[in-house]
Amino acid sequence: MVGKKLAVVGTGYVGLVAGACFAKMGHDVICVDIDAERIVMLQRGGIPIYEPGLETLVHEGVAAGRLTFSTKIADAAPCDAAFIAVGTPPRKTDGEADLSFVYECARELAAVLKPGAVIVDKSTVPVGTGDAVERIVRKTRPGITIHVASNPEFLREGSAIGDFMEPDRIVIGCNDKASEDTLSAIYAPLQAKGYRLIKTKRRSAELIKYAANAFLATKITFINEMADLCEAVDADIADVALGMGTDSRIGPQFLQAGPGYGGSCFPKDTLALVRTSQEFGVHLRIVEETVAANSARKRRMALKVRHIMHGKVEGKKISVLGLTFKADTDDMRDSPSIPLIELLQRAGADVHAYDPEGIEQAKKILKDVTYHLDPYQCSQGADAVVIMTDWESIRHIDLAMLSSVMRSHLLIDLRRVYPPEEAAKYGFTVETIGRTGLEPHPIAQFEPQFMSPDINAFTRKAEEEFA
Ligand code: UDX
Repeated sequence: MVGKKLAVVGTGYVGLVAGACFAKMGHDVICVDIDAERIVMLQRGGIPIYEPGLETLVHEGVAAGRLTFSTKIADAAPCDAAFIAVGTPPRKTDGEADLSFVYECARELAAVLKPGAVIVDKSTVPVGTGDAVERIVRKTRPGITIHVASNPEFLREGSAIGDFMEPDRIVIGCNDKASEDTLSAIYAPLQAKGYRLIKTKRRSAELIKYAANAFLATKITFINEMADLCEAVDADIADVALGMGTDSRIGPQFLQAGPGYGGSCFPKDTLALVRTSQEFGVHLRIVEETVAANSARKRRMALKVRHIMHGKVEGKKISVLGLTFKADTDDMRDSPSIPLIELLQRAGADVHAYDPEGIEQAKKILKDVTYHLDPYQCSQGADAVVIMTDWESIRHIDLAMLSSVMRSHLLIDLRRVYPPEEAAKYGFTVETIGRTGLEPHPIAQFEPQFMSPDINAFTRKAEEEFA
């Protein structure tokens, strides 16, 4: 295989992982970012994000001379394809994806790329963004053919490299043969290993990413609601998930009940999909309810903790173990720990928190928290421990030691890390998700607000109840 010359613009989770993996596949890659500090750090061998295996892969790519970094989009000029992997954060005003970075990037790439090159959207962008990018390209370089394609990325944080190099599928959305050929050649090493390449039209590819994320978010929300029901009817969600998930039509993944989904994708993408559907006059009822239910659920976790503590959290020391939205990442975006801690603080709790990687990010969001790099120190004299993320270090906590440092032995395990019977041996009272604990939680009797036009109504109600 002859490696292609590729540019990846944006060195976040998607861009940096894609760049390093493309280099590993034998391509010649330049990663571009406007953040000069980040680029200098990368050039010096530093890695700006925490992602298992990434550091080694980046260093390998650099050592092989196939991976370089730059702040200048002009350096992408000789490339066969330039991947846009910049952020598409939700606009504060309406939740729609903010595409200004994507468009700016497209404009700059169009100005420098050679004729016949392909601009590939890897950022998660609403349907029709490829068309808008194409218009920008035509306006910037009239008379020159630069193709525009879509290649959504399905990697998960924490297992990003495995997801990229051993994907369930690769989706390329192309409206012309040239970009289809270029993208097929780029992914040829993975196809040669048997990984499936799905070719679609550009708009279908754009929608596939949103549809997949919305479906997974719905699956999680479904199991979370079943968990609420389990708590009320004395069933166990782990058994229900096992019994459901072994049906091959359902599948076992993403049936882990917890405090609600967070992260950089599900919350943002579900909201953006709802906005797109509204714009096109199509009602995505299930996705709307998923957004509402998850948003309310995250806030409800604080109410659950308060309820378990018999309504008394004022002046109590609560030790929160795990801050990031999931394990193996330092990402705090939309983490369920944020509303939990903010609401507990509002109710007067003294919150201490432990996380192995997320503290630096957490400090930017959560104030007045005492942070610890040691879970036992964090729980010293605590009235309750709340498990929010299932980090390995939290899974392997020495329960005897934890119990010995706490004031009262209340373990609120919102990730179902510990079998309650096991923890009970160390004197813990364990409250968890999806299994009967104390009295059914009063907030579970929320009025259903089907098709609420205001998708945050649930959330506000939860907050009012908390005051
Ligand atoms: C997700 C998609 O999985 C990935 O394909 C896409 O490219 C980006 O968005 P990511 O956000 O990294 O990836 O994490 P993921 O593992 O999907 O988890 C998202 C959230 O759902 C986390 O808060 C996680 O704790 C939660 N989750 C996941 C559950 O609560 N239960 C589950 O069974 C699975």
